[in-house]
Amino acid sequence: MLSYLNRPRKIRREAQNSGLLQVEYISGKVFFTTNAGLTMLKQLKSAERLFLLLKRQPPLIIPSGRKGKIFNEIQRLVTEDPMCWVHAISIWRSLLELEEKLPLEVSKPHKRTARENENIITKKLKIEQTLVMLGDTECQLEKQKNDKPQEHENLKTEKENFQEESENDGEKGADHQGQFTFRVSCRCSGTIAKTFTTEEVGRVIGIALIKQFGWKADLRNPKLEIFIHLNDIYSVVGIPVFRLPLASRAYIKVAGLRSTIAWTMASLAEINVGAVVLDPMCGLGTILLEAAKEWPNAYYLGADVSDSQLSGACDNLKSAGLVDRIELLKFSVTELPLLSKSVDVIISDIPFGKKFKLGKDIKSILHEMERVLCVGGTIVLLLSEELHRNLQGGKESNVLWNSSKANTDEFKIPKFVNDQENNGIQENVSSSSEDHRQECLDQEPIFGTLVQMESHKVSLGRTEAFILKYKKIHASGLQQPS
Ligand SMILES: C[S@@+](CC[C@H](N)C(=O)[O-])C[C@H]1O[C@@H](n2cnc3c(N)ncnc32)[C@H](O)[C@@H]1O
Repeated sequence: MLSYLNRPRKIRREAQNSGLLQVEYISGKVFFTTNAGLTMLKQLKSAERLFLLLKRQPPLIIPSGRKGKIFNEIQRLVTEDPMCWVHAISIWRSLLELEEKLPLEVSKPHKRTARENENIITKKLKIEQTLVMLGDTECQLEKQKNDKPQEHENLKTEKENFQEESENDGEKGADHQGQFTFRVSCRCSGTIAKTFTTEEVGRVIGIALIKQFGWKADLRNPKLEIFIHLNDIYSVVGIPVFRLPLASRAYIKVAGLRSTIAWTMASLAEINVGAVVLDPMCGLGTILLEAAKEWPNAYYLGADVSDSQLSGACDNLKSAGLVDRIELLKFSVTELPLLSKSVDVIISDIPFGKKFKLGKDIKSILHEMERVLCVGGTIVLLLSEELHRNLQGGKESNVLWNSSKANTDEFKIPKFVNDQENNGIQENVSSSSEDHRQECLDQEPIFGTLVQMESHKVSLGRTEAFILKYKKIHASGLQQPS
């Protein structure tokens, strides 16, 4: 999940280009409304998951020592508005049918075909405007905006409604005994996580749904999965639109870096037609795969010192049909067999875990990257928080990094609180290449001739990391130290 404080401008652009409306970025989730078809939504490369939004409300208030009361509050999240469920389940069913008709691997379709597909889907759904909540890359749909409130007494009970639908639906939502099966997936963080375990919350919600709708819990193979996310910022309930997360790419055989992060890094790198793109620590090749799929008209090179990683990368290239477009080399990042200034773009995930220790220090790595990069070229790196901190003025600052304003979080990374105040819609990077050029000139290089352009904090699940973007400027553009 690309869940975080800053969303690179490209991700915003992706949202705009995908026909998402009323886009709101809030703490790792993107809420939006859309008329876009499934084909278009399935191509959201920076998103982990897409959900129909059933409920979004402020965080639950947790009074100390009153567990029973809070359980009631939690249950109300799913019981308060039964008609919303009736509506959402019917949309979900339609989407399920449509998804079955989508090609398995959605490669970037020809424009006309995409539009045709969308028209068909839109017509079929007969939804004028469906309010969608996109979670971090979870996305969710909400009930139709213009729905008129309905009188409950005129309706069958929700239990009857669902049971009847299940009987009519057969395979679509019910198991062999005609019961609709479900599973609840919870994520709790912040205050609520200090009082309840996710299992407790899941159980409470599950019981409420069984009572309310007569569904049957099935943890192994449910027809419907319900996602609940409770934290100090919001409480949300959603249903996944697609069976598989958007982030799972059919063409990746052996998973390395999260594909959403790899795609985001590539999207920041400004890969032009004919560019030479290098990942000098390519591992299983995820960054190169994501880049080559999206920007096919460039030359891709990957290097790594590990035979097993290169062999995994090779398998991935074969399975993605990209063997002819990506070349793999066994070389160290500190001794690349490339001419100086021969590469336009470098994108790399710098190792920081236990598995891949940084043998040589970051200085030698940056030195070699700077050497092979052409003037005006771009480097996009994924760095651990620790490495990022060190580079930003910690231990290594005196040797390598000038403490320019460009390198501080304050300058490049707006505080989260600002993000919220502005509904998360905040440009933290300059908006044109002209601005970028000016910024380049204004800044002192952080290393040699490399100038930092952007910095984005991202979540890797358990840990957080930074995507840093640098540009190489001409040595003559450097200011002499005073
Ligand atoms: C974090 S992993 C990269 C993962 C990759 N992005 C993927 O999706 O699989 C870092 C990689 O750097 C490689 N590595 C470590 N030291 C290296 C060096 N000196 N030169 C080149 N590669 C190196 C490791 O073998 C490992 O594959």
